[in-house]
Amino acid sequence: MTATPAGMTYADYLHLDAILSAQQPRSELHDEMLFVIIHQTKELWLKQMLHEVKLACLLIREDRFPEAYKALSRISRIWTVMTLSWDVLATLTPVDYNAFRDVLGTSSGFQSAQFRELEFRLGIKDPKYLDFFEGGVESQGKLRNALAEPSLWEEANAALARAGFAIADEGSVRYAWLEIYRRPDEYFGLYQLAEKLVDLDDAFAAWRHKHMLTIERIIGMKKGTGGSAGVAYLASTLTKRAFPELWSLRTEL
Ligand code: HEM
Repeated sequence: MTATPAGMTYADYLHLDAILSAQQPRSELHDEMLFVIIHQTKELWLKQMLHEVKLACLLIREDRFPEAYKALSRISRIWTVMTLSWDVLATLTPVDYNAFRDVLGTSSGFQSAQFRELEFRLGIKDPKYLDFFEGGVESQGKLRNALAEPSLWEEANAALARAGFAIADEGSVRYAWLEIYRRPDEYFGLYQLAEKLVDLDDAFAAWRHKHMLTIERIIGMKKGTGGSAGVAYLASTLTKRAFPELWSLRTEL
């Protein structure tokens, strides 16, 4: 039974029984606990970021830009915390990790459905990643919805169209944003929105970079548990951008 507010305790409110019973390392080794907790923490932060991206999409659809900035700033700050957390993981040496790597089998961050949903909802929609989620019907469904629904980038470009810009292909998108950067006083709301989006891409890229570096430190050039080429695969993701035209237009300013 759910506790009423009057009798509610800290543990009731936060469902600590459920959360704190979910750390079940598969080995007896001391360091596996850190590995479990850092991944679980990431999944919680991903959940919060998805919550904020959905809000930001709704707000942008209604041209409520200042309220959207608030949600977008929160996501960027969460990424920063996630990037800092690589320093905690870096205290896991290759020797520590190798001692329990076998228990992970083929599981990998690669299969994080929330991570992929976040990419899709920001605007990095690559359907080939759906193949990694064949097993879970529920996460497959969520990912298919995220592919079908407008991403944050698509919502931002729809706002451009409402502001009077002719939006058809990628070229017209870049041209419209370029116009906004050339006349920020005239389009301050959209200009500020663009910078908030660049903040997000920036924070995401920093996280990817630090993941790659930390992983090189821990596994060198070995293959990943998910079957990829490991660090070489991670290096190939560093150039991914959710809002590519906001980066490319800078060359022309
Ligand atoms: C010792 C710790 C870790 C190692 C050795 C490691 C290694 C790797 C490797 C090699 C990949 C590429 C896919 C594969 O072949 O498995 C990968 C992907 C990934 N990892 Fe990690 N990782 C570690 C910890 C983490 C942590 C703590 C997180 C989350 C905070 C994380 C999140 C991810 C995500 C989201 C991907 C998919 C990236 C993409 O496809 O762009 N990893 N990891």
